[in-house]
Amino acid sequence: MKIALASDHGGFELKEALKKHLVEDRNMEVLDLGTDGPGSVDYPVFGHACGRAVASGRADLGIVCCGTGIGISISANKIKGVRCALVFSDFMAEMTKRHNNANMLAFGGRTTSAEDAIRWTDIWLDTPFDGGRHERRVNMIEPEDEEISSLE
Ligand code: RB5
Repeated sequence: MKIALASDHGGFELKEALKKHLVEDRNMEVLDLGTDGPGSVDYPVFGHACGRAVASGRADLGIVCCGTGIGISISANKIKGVRCALVFSDFMAEMTKRHNNANMLAFGGRTTSAEDAIRWTDIWLDTPFDGGRHERRVNMIEPEDEEISSLE
């Protein structure tokens, strides 16, 4: 199981803490796509890079971090095939795997402690996807170009 990590400067320290946990405590293979230090960088570049790694199969899962987790999760979710969830509780970490089969998580380095992010990551990794009716809904997430919604 390979997991891709990426962050901007606002999420750099949190990414490093997550990397240490995943490698040292969970013995996982990590693909670290940067950033490599606290200098200012642009979060969309890193959100896209991590999203592409997951969507292409270069990594099985991904985690992205920025100051709030918002910009980098929006960026990752622009990549087709990515389901990146910004979570703030044990329940959200569990349900985003059970019901949404999220293949990426996002965290905010200025909003979330390393302790919480590590716990939520472990919950997400250790929870199975429920499948069934949730699989049908997950398969509906990517809109068809020609889709006409009955709600429009
Ligand atoms: C960078 O200052 C900050 O805007 C970024 O880390 C993130 O919070 C954006 O959503």
